[in-house]
Amino acid sequence: MAASKGTLPAVSLQVGERSIELATIRASQGNHGIVVAPLMKETGLVALDTGYLNTAPCTSEITFIDGDAGILRYRGYPIEQLAEKSTFLEVAMLLIKGELPSAHDLEAFETRIDKHMYLSDDFRQIFSVMPRRAHPMATLGAAINMMAGFYPESLDPLDPSAVSLATVLLLAKMPTIISYIYRRAQGNALLYPKHGQSYIENFARMTFQLPGERFEAPEAFYRALDTLLILHADHEQNCSTSSVRMIGSAQANLYMSVSGGVSALSGPLHGGANESVLNMLQYIRDTDIEPKKFMEKVKDRSSNIRLMGFGHRVYKSYDPRAAIVKEQADAVLAALGVKDELLDIAHEVEQVALSDDYFIERRLYPNVDFYTGIIYRAMGFPASMFTPLFALGRLPGWIAQWREMIRDPAAKIGRPRQIYVGHPEREYVPLDQRP
Ligand code: SDX
Repeated sequence: MAASKGTLPAVSLQVGERSIELATIRASQGNHGIVVAPLMKETGLVALDTGYLNTAPCTSEITFIDGDAGILRYRGYPIEQLAEKSTFLEVAMLLIKGELPSAHDLEAFETRIDKHMYLSDDFRQIFSVMPRRAHPMATLGAAINMMAGFYPESLDPLDPSAVSLATVLLLAKMPTIISYIYRRAQGNALLYPKHGQSYIENFARMTFQLPGERFEAPEAFYRALDTLLILHADHEQNCSTSSVRMIGSAQANLYMSVSGGVSALSGPLHGGANESVLNMLQYIRDTDIEPKKFMEKVKDRSSNIRLMGFGHRVYKSYDPRAAIVKEQADAVLAALGVKDELLDIAHEVEQVALSDDYFIERRLYPNVDFYTGIIYRAMGFPASMFTPLFALGRLPGWIAQWREMIRDPAAKIGRPRQIYVGHPEREYVPLDQRP
């Protein structure tokens, strides 16, 4: 959608003797913007903004975050209400379609997803060449990329029916793929979805059911997993979503764009943090180090130790998702009959951090990754599966943002500029004349 130029006054930029006017754009919520598109043409200057701390690559109607107030809304609905009242597939429809679905449309969507959850035998074969012990994010990214090879009828980004089919196939097959990655690492065969079971029940059973046994879990297990997926569903222009948009801006198909998002998410500064948090808590437990002592190491920059699960580019207050997960953690572990000393350590670490000037001055609070791993672990997932679970949750957001970009008439192929600080022109030196 073309960005509507708001009624904000233009801004003037003084460049040497010249003053140029830059239009502004009004946000419906949050930061308004300066349209810098004419900057280079008018002044020969480009804007340097490492890490894009101040730069918006797009307008979007999908998710709103207020980092100071700790607000997160999907299509205007507060995350707290969606986490309490909605389901993951309903939130997926909300993010992708823009509105909460009617009961009829939701049921039709769930039925369509249910129909496509299986993996064909050919598709299952591709896993046989992937090392069982490969990190699950490497296998997940490869498998999603390969969907472009198995479903050629759903590739054209400019064909709405192809995009709709790719949307359903990704949402339907991702849980089966993730369950199979986990089972292969355990040496178990792929299980198939059972029509009539819910999305979450199928995912849990395909993941955990042992050969010859039934898988049963309390309702609290399914509710917690559904809620965790809702909490991860979108987060405006984070690193992995920006990667999906960038790849899609070249009109790459949805599968290969999402596969790029999986790659970005795997980084420990991003989605990989939930796995790093657990490793950090286990380190504190196994070395019996006082949390206060551990935090001294974190504050000592030469240690290169970061408090994983803390800090955020946008939230300079408590991440609302972390608050929900923290609140649920005790209840979920109790319902699962799990006592985990890592949860006690996490609480202690948080208490120390929130009363320490180093963290207060830098406005470092728990983010979505700080407590989630403890619940996943109580469910039976190993730490290596935490980031694939984040990817499953984020999938509807990646899809919604990619579709918004592909449909946006103002969208162009992403091609940032740079500030060149290398050598000026110089002559080639033949090999025998070099030192
Ligand atoms: C996610 O963008 C999103 O929306 C992401 C996400 C999503 O849903 O998509 O929310 C998911 O990725 C959450 C973040 C998960 N990552 C971690 O938990 C890793 C630990 N956190 C940090 O690495 C860091 O906080 C980031 C990467 C999350 C944010 O980094 P920024 O915004 O680039 O901040 P910075 O590195 O410039 O830090 C500012 C200051 C620095 O100190 P000074 O140089 O000013 O002295 O804060 C310090 C940093 O050293 N700092 C930390 C810290 N995070 C920042 N110090 C110790 N521990 C930390 N975790």
